[in-house]
Amino acid sequence: MTVQTLTIRRPDDWHLHLRDDELLRAVLPASARQFGRAVVMPNLKPPVTTAQAAMAYRERILGALPPGSAFTPLMTCYLCDTTDPADIRAGFDAGAFAAAKLYPAGATTHSEYGVTSIDRVAGVLSAMQDIGMPLLIHGESTDPAVDVFDRETAFLHATLQPLLARYPRLKVVLEHITTAEAADFVMRDSSGRLAATITPQHLMFNRNAIFAGGIRPHYYCLPVLKRERHRLALRRAATSGLPAFFLGTDSAPHDTTAKESACGCAGIFSAHVALQAYLTVFEEEDALGRFEAFASDNGARFYGMPPNRETITFHRRPMRVTEQIDLPDGRHIRQFLAGETLPWTLA
Ligand code: DOR
Ligand code: ZN
Repeated sequence: MTVQTLTIRRPDDWHLHLRDDELLRAVLPASARQFGRAVVMPNLKPPVTTAQAAMAYRERILGALPPGSAFTPLMTCYLCDTTDPADIRAGFDAGAFAAAKLYPAGATTHSEYGVTSIDRVAGVLSAMQDIGMPLLIHGESTDPAVDVFDRETAFLHATLQPLLARYPRLKVVLEHITTAEAADFVMRDSSGRLAATITPQHLMFNRNAIFAGGIRPHYYCLPVLKRERHRLALRRAATSGLPAFFLGTDSAPHDTTAKESACGCAGIFSAHVALQAYLTVFEEEDALGRFEAFASDNGARFYGMPPNRETITFHRRPMRVTEQIDLPDGRHIRQFLAGETLPWTLA
């Protein structure tokens, strides 16, 4: 019999871009409506590199929440070559940071202040290992000689493997994995300290989507969509029920003029439709029974946080995804799956 309603523990989004100011106010309600908590990325301009900046940003997020919302932003520290291990320790102890984010310098949007070599943050990583603070990694090689579609795989061997060997107790989340190799890499680790988030777009589309009948900037994100065999491997990983895989939308809003440009920004804005998109994937894979583990349990367990107490309910009722959200200054943000109809509605 076809399932008509599905109730699960309220999920969390373990990888989210909320931006700031007008954009923050426009995009935050969509995440706050669905998720209990979200790990908020620090790649603002300028980036969030201190506990003080993280606390101020958290206040701006809380101030932009709809009245009555219980949504909790979990703040992250943007690692630079100059990050002081003592500041990381103090920020984590004070609850200002839930994790720190490693962007290899030049890998993606606003990563120019990122880390130029792992050696530069050796002291920071050993402090994080000591205090049990998770390291979130944008896992792509920045070697210009590496093909854009091979950057994640190159990173696994050249950087991640040695990093894990050097810090055997460091908790690491490989963010937004996009390849079969990354999924295998995470599955092969039996220590329980390595995990990965997976986005809805990497479960639903392969790289053909970027070039279907012309160039489609709204399917461009980083790491870029990969071949079909990778998408299929990611679907197996997400729906496996394994505790190392959990939900992280990487919802990353840019206004349409920044996306539809001669040099368009990377990022897909999926916050409004993320849960229904994931749910559609789980149903297609005949894995509805494992959706709650991926969406609501595995991430909290990995981060050592209590699971949410409330539940949310989906109904089998077609939902048409609106095209865009409008900003007060006349700009727009186009939504993931704009104009499409998904089978589930969130009550
Ligand atoms: O597509 C992406 N957009 N990937 C990232 O790593 C950054 C993000 C953004 O901030 O726009
Ligand atoms: Zn991201």
